[in-house]
Amino acid sequence: MGKLIESKVYLEEFLSIKELSKEDQVLISKAEEAAALAYAPYSKFNVGAAVRLSDGEIVIGNNQENAAYPSGLCAERVAIFAASANNPKTPIISIAITAQSDLISVGELLSPCGSCRQVMVESEYRQNQEIKILLKGDTEKIYVAKTVKDLLPFCFNPSRIQPK
Ligand code: THU
Repeated sequence: MGKLIESKVYLEEFLSIKELSKEDQVLISKAEEAAALAYAPYSKFNVGAAVRLSDGEIVIGNNQENAAYPSGLCAERVAIFAASANNPKTPIISIAITAQSDLISVGELLSPCGSCRQVMVESEYRQNQEIKILLKGDTEKIYVAKTVKDLLPFCFNPSRIQPK
């Protein structure tokens, strides 16, 4: 057997939104509002994301589906790319993510897909600053990661493809 390389990751669990700062509470409610506006006629799984920038601006995103399925995009990337398109130099401090569905159980821990995690890795790398990730499923509980590295250990490092 080879040597085991360990990576420890942490999520902080809060029993209620009331345990969070006012700023984080606002961000989660913006993500909930965004989820309600999702375009998800195929999955009927509405995801909402809200990104807080260092200047206090909040940029929202929600999943945008398409009849040609792979052409759609997740809520997190819609929000992060919109933030980057409009405010490319302003760091992202945090992102709140939630989902709503009448058909599908959202579950207690709603966690972003791998592609969205990799996009968050790139944002952290670009701004050289960690992004707090707030996750709200269909209970009162909130899970918080202080960096995307806790959601994507052993990630692809964007510095790999920087020219020498
Ligand atoms: N979805 C997101 O918006 N974010 C994720 O992290 C995972 C999945 C969307 C994609 C699709 O529109 C729907 O949820 C069902 O997969």
